[in-house]
Amino acid sequence: MAGLTVVICGGGNGAHVLSGLLPNIKEVSKVYLLSTFGDEAERIGKAASEQQGEIHVRRCKEGPNGEDIVVKGKPTQFTNDPSIVAKADVIVLVMPAFAHGSYLEAIKPHVRKAGSQAPGGRVVLGAMNGEGGFDIQAQSILGEELFSNIALFALSTLPWAARLSEFGKSVDVLGTKLTLDAAVTPMHLAKDVVGTIQKLMAGQIPQLELIPSMLSITLMNPNQVSHPTITWGKYHDWDGKTKFEEPPSFYQGVNKMTGDMMCKISEEILTVKKFMEDNYNLNLKGVVHIKEFLVNAYGDDIADQSSLHQIFNTSKPYQGLVHPMVKTEDGKFLPNFKHRYLAEDIPMGLIVTKGIAELCGIKTPNMDIVIDFGSKALGKSFIKEGKVAGPDIGMTRSPQAFGFTTIDDFIKKMHY
Ligand code: NAI
Repeated sequence: MAGLTVVICGGGNGAHVLSGLLPNIKEVSKVYLLSTFGDEAERIGKAASEQQGEIHVRRCKEGPNGEDIVVKGKPTQFTNDPSIVAKADVIVLVMPAFAHGSYLEAIKPHVRKAGSQAPGGRVVLGAMNGEGGFDIQAQSILGEELFSNIALFALSTLPWAARLSEFGKSVDVLGTKLTLDAAVTPMHLAKDVVGTIQKLMAGQIPQLELIPSMLSITLMNPNQVSHPTITWGKYHDWDGKTKFEEPPSFYQGVNKMTGDMMCKISEEILTVKKFMEDNYNLNLKGVVHIKEFLVNAYGDDIADQSSLHQIFNTSKPYQGLVHPMVKTEDGKFLPNFKHRYLAEDIPMGLIVTKGIAELCGIKTPNMDIVIDFGSKALGKSFIKEGKVAGPDIGMTRSPQAFGFTTIDDFIKKMHY
């Protein structure tokens, strides 16, 4: 059997990592990078051509003795032509969630409905960072026929903390997650599909953990709870104009009120989980309270686990990070509300979860407070008379944006 042909969609940090790693995987025969974002593919190709077409990935401190290792890989081609996916056995979207829709639209006419080398003869298509209703959007855009002839996967986040060091040439992997949740639909191919994606991870880590429902990825998403709520905590009583001398601490600035708000939002999400399990017999065991999630993820790196706000204040990985800001002409700072902490984690995060809660008939008063703040900060309207129905819901991945009006219909059509 020939090796897999993989198309990486995107052109940022994560796409560079995959472009450097995948050509070295023995099960992979061809690697294409597709970027439809302006002239990005051409620019990456031009930069890479200055080093024999290779992308270099520095895996920091991942050598056997804790040293950096550099992996070099030469993708087959960098292209802006979406028809390249007609060759693909595996298609990986690695980009901010707001860009998923435009890629799904562009590749839809070209994705094969049969004849893939991947499990079940199906093309495997998914997103690294597939939280916040990725599957709802994918099914809607691809259409029922194509959707039922591919295998869709979603990882709970990007496997690496990665930053470009030189565009089109090199990228640093600052850390690799130890474990990562992965969900697949249809379920009968899930084990094999996760096995295939695991091979693409180029190492022992992260260890992918198959979870039984895509819905878990959407409900569990910790960023939807933390990022908008921490932003709300800092700015809900800000006057909208007073400048800051320096960017305030992000996680280390979390106070008790903000920690308590995150706890209450997390409890609202657990109410949705319980409703789904009690009424629809879904297995959502991956969905846990944010406090439990953080303790599992960071364990001994948290000095004080006594409360959620202390967890954020005393977790090693969170130290030193600041609120995203815009520098003004006088050298002072204003908050940058266009940053993904709101721009991604409200429309592709909290609004999706609120929309699902609404279908279940579950009230979410705490989530609503943060959504109201975040929507105003973004200059968008996602809520009308307390419901997910504002004029901007088209840019969200809420079930309501895709026409769902009942929970029965949602669960049935999404194959949960
Ligand atoms: P990135 O920020 O590097 O992505 C930028 C790329 O997105 C651009 O190069 C372009 O290809 C594409 N893009 C940007 N604007 C676009 C537009 N308007 N239309 C079409 N394409 C556009 O993303 P990165 O760092 O690779 O992350 C991918 C996802 O993983 C994001 O959702 C991010 O939040 C998440 N993530 C990233 C981590 C990291 O360390 N880089 C860690 C954990 C999660």
